[in-house]
Amino acid sequence: MGMGMASPLLSCAIMALLASVLPPPSVAGDPDLLQDICVADLSSGKPPRPDSVRALCCSQIRKMVQINHVFDLCAGVKVNGFACKATVTEDDFYFKGLGAAGNTSTTYGSVVTGANVEKVPGLNTLGVSMARIDYAPGGLNAPHTHPRATEMVFVLQGALDVGFITTANKLVSKTIAAGDVFVFPRGLVHFQKNNGAGPASVISAFNSQFPGTQSLAMTLFAATPPVPDHVLTTAFQVGTKEVDKIRSRLAPKKA
Ligand SMILES: *[C@@H]1O[C@H](CO)[C@@H](O)[C@H](O)[C@H]1NC(C)=O
Repeated sequence: MGMGMASPLLSCAIMALLASVLPPPSVAGDPDLLQDICVADLSSGKPPRPDSVRALCCSQIRKMVQINHVFDLCAGVKVNGFACKATVTEDDFYFKGLGAAGNTSTTYGSVVTGANVEKVPGLNTLGVSMARIDYAPGGLNAPHTHPRATEMVFVLQGALDVGFITTANKLVSKTIAAGDVFVFPRGLVHFQKNNGAGPASVISAFNSQFPGTQSLAMTLFAATPPVPDHVLTTAFQVGTKEVDKIRSRLAPKKA
């Protein structure tokens, strides 16, 4: 006993004291809310419709003062998220779209149905959302990231090979089946593949009202305007022929 025991205890006390006065580390997805509800006005952030009174008024003001950026009102209000609606109904908090399987006749044999703020305006500022993902046999939800959210999947049906890759380039993967849960940490590249003979589906939960998705293949090979050839040939150590081939396969299908 003596200083050998006392000093670790003292260090602990000092650390506890420091922890109580320092600001807490940021651990949430979206920022915390400041009011009970702020149901998204999904038209906020968009310029007024050309036939609206607001648009007519804005064009008059522009003519008078001869400048283009007169009022935020004329350009559409820009906020982090959506502005709050004045009138709210129960349907702003309701969405029926996750009950049935989506159509998996897509390039990758999988389809994501979001239940985010775009579908459920009542989610605005609340920092959570969900999705349903359906997979045909062999279907892949191709490697992608969510810049604003951690994702948890709950398997409804079938079995999936899932995984994410850390920034140390370690693949963390597992085969999961109906009833299982798996976590994809925020921002990390991840995927799910249905290697089973039947269809599979999951429900996803996110700590963001609008997690955002960047699908690596589409981001690099189907951006508009295109990512320059020399960037892709150097990055992937291939020729322009290979790059063009991937581009043509991933190009949006003409309806
Ligand atoms: C699914 O999508 C494919 C391709 O877009 C289409 O041909 C087919 O009719 C759709 N099936 C259903 C059930 O909607």
